[in-house]
Amino acid sequence: MGKGKLAKFDDLSQMPHVFQNFSWSDPQLINYQKEAVNYNGRWATDFFQNGQPIILELACGYGEYTMAMAEHLPNHNIIGVDIKGNRIWTGARYIQEKQLTNAAFVRTTIDLIHHFFGAAEISEIWIPFPDPHNRHSKQNKRLTSPKFLELYRKILMPDGVIHLKTDSDLLYKYTLEVVEKEGCTIIENYRDLYNSPFANPLLSVSTRYERLNISGADTIKYVQFRLGQK
Ligand SMILES: C[S@@+](CC[C@H](N)C(=O)[O-])C[C@H]1O[C@@H](n2cnc3c(N)ncnc32)[C@H](O)[C@@H]1O
Repeated sequence: MGKGKLAKFDDLSQMPHVFQNFSWSDPQLINYQKEAVNYNGRWATDFFQNGQPIILELACGYGEYTMAMAEHLPNHNIIGVDIKGNRIWTGARYIQEKQLTNAAFVRTTIDLIHHFFGAAEISEIWIPFPDPHNRHSKQNKRLTSPKFLELYRKILMPDGVIHLKTDSDLLYKYTLEVVEKEGCTIIENYRDLYNSPFANPLLSVSTRYERLNISGADTIKYVQFRLGQK
């Protein structure tokens, strides 16, 4: 039988590469020694101690992209971010078992992401299969809404890149509209990624939600863009 949620939470709280925030009003990251730590602007030097560029996987769920990037991009540091500890546990256990030293997980709501990373600290943001939040009234919760792009602007390098992979037509179209309105620069854009000429081995990584295909879509969409300055 698999581990229960409580046992996973207990495991997570003892992992040196997992940091958890438990507060909206006083955001801080708690490490495995139950200490509040602040690596804001210093993740590469003080936590990873290798000076490598940092890539975030937002809404990482089980952390498939964090696992794959940690293995395939050894010259980068990868941090998976999600609010659900029992999901993060899968990726965190994998990183531990493989003894990878270039990956970590942050358990927090992404709405607070700017509290945990410094200005221009992040080189890329990957957002694989985020919730599309189909209802119009929930569009501010979409991770490519102007509200979230504003947060990413605080932590991304000026030439930093955002990758969205989704099965949702609604989220894909919405993102293209936001990207245009916000004056972002589209680098790659495919409505049918797997029948496109674009080749990036990372994009063949299939996540739990890609396999679930909740939207029932016939294609996987991919948009890569730069925020640009405001
Ligand atoms: C549809 S699942 C996708 C998970 C994973 N990327 C995949 O493809 O399997 C969306 C994930 O986003 C997380 N999530 C949604 N909104 C979030 C937020 N504001 N802050 C942190 N995590 C969030 C959820 O906990 C969930 O794990």
